[in-house]
Amino acid sequence: MLVPADPENVARAGALLRAGGIVAFPTETVYGLGADAFDAAAVARIFEAKGRPVFDPLIVHVSDDAMLARVVRCVPELARRLAERFWPGPLTLVLEKRDAVPAIVTAGLPTVGVRCPAHPVAQALIEAAGVPLAAPSANRFGAISPTRAEHVEAQLGERVDTILDGGPTELGVESTIVLLAGERPALLRHGALPVEEIEAVTGPLLDATRAGEARDAVPLAPGQSASHYAPRTPLRVVLADSVPRQERARAGLLAFRAPAAEPGYAAVRVLAADGDLRRAAAVLFEALHELDALGLERIDAEQVPETGIGRAIADRLRRAATR
Ligand code: TXA
Ligand code: MG
Repeated sequence: MLVPADPENVARAGALLRAGGIVAFPTETVYGLGADAFDAAAVARIFEAKGRPVFDPLIVHVSDDAMLARVVRCVPELARRLAERFWPGPLTLVLEKRDAVPAIVTAGLPTVGVRCPAHPVAQALIEAAGVPLAAPSANRFGAISPTRAEHVEAQLGERVDTILDGGPTELGVESTIVLLAGERPALLRHGALPVEEIEAVTGPLLDATRAGEARDAVPLAPGQSASHYAPRTPLRVVLADSVPRQERARAGLLAFRAPAAEPGYAAVRVLAADGDLRRAAAVLFEALHELDALGLERIDAEQVPETGIGRAIADRLRRAATR
């Protein structure tokens, strides 16, 4: 059931969570599907609702340091500095977990991903529940991430106990994930916080997001399947203006900037007319949801510059294109 995220509904959702329920809620990145992180049975319901394989660990959302301390064994100096600089915000830190965190949350790993979300509804919900919330993105496994409550309703509907509607999310792509439990800090996922900003604090990170590099130095990021964020419509990544005219009539174009001339596609969604990457990230999944609903033969997604948050956009598009 989709309800407005007003204080009364947030309080009710907090009680649901304490009683083993699962609740979808907005964060500044995408909508999450939360459960009490200490309640293994409730967390199992998340995996069931999403159709998510159990080898894919969840991110635990906390509202303050005291809650963080209930989840992780220790907070290394570098983690402390990153948290001070970027929390609340779109950064997930992977740290050594406490025994109290059930294995289903971390897919059996000795580490746990934690983040403190900036969205006021997410913060209010964690406070109302009084427990850290294990929460993946609130989509069916492998499908496009939800940036609106309606996206959650369409994909998960009755499988969840309640959906708190806080309007469209601000950033539009998931948090950046950094592993701080190994010998050297490593980037596990590009996301809404540009890696350049993190490296300004940490120095160069090992890059575990690409096959090859850092393979021996860090454990592979689980759950980073090659195919992910995928619309039902086949999608390919193309260079702007490179597709022959005759291939466009029954396809949709996910343009990065405003096309110069009438491009001749059946449908066009422009991510950012002026080429602003943050604006593009904010509407990426929404534009994909929209194009996917049109029953097109194919979606051509224009390549975006791989700098700042553009790296996260490019990563999502590559995975959306993989079958
Ligand atoms: O912005 C976000 O991070 C959103 C919102 C809801 O907070 N959440 C999100 O969760 O994107 P999800 O489940 O879609 O992605 C979680 C990913 C896993 O697939 C895995 O790659 C990584 O986080 N992860 C979680 N725990 C980990 C761990 N202990 N070690 C390595 N990677 C981990
Ligand atoms: Mg996800």
